Amino acid sequence: MKGIILAGGAGSRLYPLTMVASKQLQPVYDKPMVYYPLTVLIASGVRDFCLISTPKDLPRFRELLGDGREWGLSIEYREQPRPEGIAQAFLIADTFIGQDPVTLILGDNVFFGGDAFPRAFAEFKSGAAVFAYHVTDPQRYGVVEFDARMRAVSIEEKPVRPRSSFAVPGVYLYDNQVVDIARSLKPSARGELEITDVNRVYLERGQLQVYRLPRGFAWLDAGTSSSLHEASAYVQAIEKRQGIKIGCPEEAALWRGFITLDQFEQRLGRMPNCEYRDYLSTVAAEARAGRLPYGVPRAG
Ligand code: DAU
Repeated sequence: MKGIILAGGAGSRLYPLTMVASKQLQPVYDKPMVYYPLTVLIASGVRDFCLISTPKDLPRFRELLGDGREWGLSIEYREQPRPEGIAQAFLIADTFIGQDPVTLILGDNVFFGGDAFPRAFAEFKSGAAVFAYHVTDPQRYGVVEFDARMRAVSIEEKPVRPRSSFAVPGVYLYDNQVVDIARSLKPSARGELEITDVNRVYLERGQLQVYRLPRGFAWLDAGTSSSLHEASAYVQAIEKRQGIKIGCPEEAALWRGFITLDQFEQRLGRMPNCEYRDYLSTVAAEARAGRLPYGVPRAG
């Protein structure tokens, strides 16, 4: 499965922070925001990435992530000149996708908890799969409605009167039909190619699988100054309490087998002395002792 990280947009709600670095490069506690979605996809077994951002911000992402080799990945980069919709990503990345299935993740979505994503990725065969998460403010999101047997029956973008409290987070899995579906879309009233319109086509074809994310699972918004701060506070609280890190691509790459323990240790040897490196050293020691780090599901 190919992976697209969409990390463009104006980031205007975080102005003036975004004058110097785009939203997805801002820190969420101790790491750049984009590390979190990147780690989610690595942990789910994705190795081939295309990162899409604005012409202005793309060089900074290249600087940060490089070609991905250090994590056993391949990362290529494409420009989105204007924010004309999330679904435009499939048109920009069509030659990257080729004939493969593809997952798209939004570069500003931070998740933590459980193995819902790796399990859904392992199960995925065809059609589309999205997730549903109970929120207090569904009108800000794509909203999915279920019938009495918990089958998805409708999906709407930012409805004024939401039919349920289940928002659709920014992780989507598609088979190769998605490229043609994206080509057939018309821009919405806000002038964007909507990801919810893609999902509706799959729903109408009877090919949309919706996984409900469990209680206790965290999906954090980092789009405004206060939600960014809250996301940082959440990550800090969990990391401090549990002594594990959220959104650490090296660790995910190690347990997925994308890099060897030797490569992992070489990488940390090139890092400056810092908390991040100290943490990776404890992961390496656990791995040397033949133990998987706490909370890591065994790779399937
Ligand atoms: O976060 C999940 C929600 O994301 C979904 O529930 C909605 O269905 C989906 O439309 C989207 O809603 P938002 O209104 O929150 O999307 P926003 O325009 O804020 O864009 C989300 C991220 O994607 C943001 O970091 C910027 C980036 N983006 C967005 C657009 C429209 C791009 O890189 N290019 C784009 O053209």
